[in-house]
Amino acid sequence: MIEIEHLSKRYGETAVVDDVSFTVDEGEIAVVVGTSGAGKSTLLRMINRLVVPDEGRVLIDGQDTATIPEDELRHRIGYVIQGYGLFPHRTVAENIATVPRLLGWDRRRIAARVEELLDLFQLDASEFARKFPHQLSGGQQQRVGVARALAAKPALLLMDEPFGSLDPVIRGKAQDDLLAIQRRLGTTIVLVTHDMNEAFHLGSRIAVMDQARLLQYATPADLLTHPAEPFVEQLVGTAERPFRLLSFVTVRDAMEPGPADGEPLLPTASLREALAQLIWRGRTTLPVADASGAPVGRISVEGILAHGRSLS
Ligand SMILES: Nc1ncnc2c1ncn2[C@@H]1O[C@H](COP(=O)(O)OP(=O)(O)OP(=O)(O)O)[C@@H](O)[C@H]1O
Ligand SMILES: [Mg+2]
Repeated sequence: MIEIEHLSKRYGETAVVDDVSFTVDEGEIAVVVGTSGAGKSTLLRMINRLVVPDEGRVLIDGQDTATIPEDELRHRIGYVIQGYGLFPHRTVAENIATVPRLLGWDRRRIAARVEELLDLFQLDASEFARKFPHQLSGGQQQRVGVARALAAKPALLLMDEPFGSLDPVIRGKAQDDLLAIQRRLGTTIVLVTHDMNEAFHLGSRIAVMDQARLLQYATPADLLTHPAEPFVEQLVGTAERPFRLLSFVTVRDAMEPGPADGEPLLPTASLREALAQLIWRGRTTLPVADASGAPVGRISVEGILAHGRSLS
């Protein structure tokens, strides 16, 4: 667990991060959003002490990071900077091996770890290990950047706009890859982004920052239903709001008893998916069945509308 307590940083007269506190649970993805200059990167860099806070502290599993030696901090906290920050004159394998080398792992262990990570990120080792960053596409560089940050199996991964320069299609793929890998490794992540869609896709909780302050830290559904300030409401987007909301509610929560005809939906499907299916198939109700195919009820357009009204 990461506990961020009253972090503050000033540069000259300007507060860049002003009394920010929040906690990130084990295995959670916390996403920090906000306009340019809000202090997101500075906040992230205070978590791994690349920037030393003026006030406040950060605890990792109860331990104050100020008391953790620097090399151990680098070991426990992976960091993906914007633009991936790969070393241009080192190969992919050497880039990934950076932290294990600093930690003095033996060669065989490093080689095995590099291979494992290339495999995890679907980069064929025989093709990519010896390549240099300029020989890779943006998406491949991005994967190497994340692989490098994960090399020493950090408990915490900090990512500063890791997908910023990817085109929308590759970006979606990179986000899904990150989610899959995160679920597999159970890594706790703090990720900074400008992109609200990315925040809603990845975040288990979202921290909204503006002008050095943390305005709200809440689950995506909570941000949508209870924005703390007009700025948050504006940021979560008025037009997209109903659809985003529906994507956080499952069919199970809005279904009713009784039969219906047609191909059944799963109770775990989102209301957004259910609505899309109803419209696509031109139906007003569809049956709901569990994974074994046993009927559990039905979902209707009226049921979704009623549920939507109760949320907003
Ligand atoms: N080393 C520094 N010295 C002086 N001012 C700084 C320093 N680092 C950051 N700042 C200022 O602090 C403010 C917050 O910067 P920060 O990089 O944290 O913003 P950000 O939210 O990450 O912005 P962006 O979305 O553009 O990356 C900015 O006004 C920036 O100019
Ligand atoms: Mg930044």
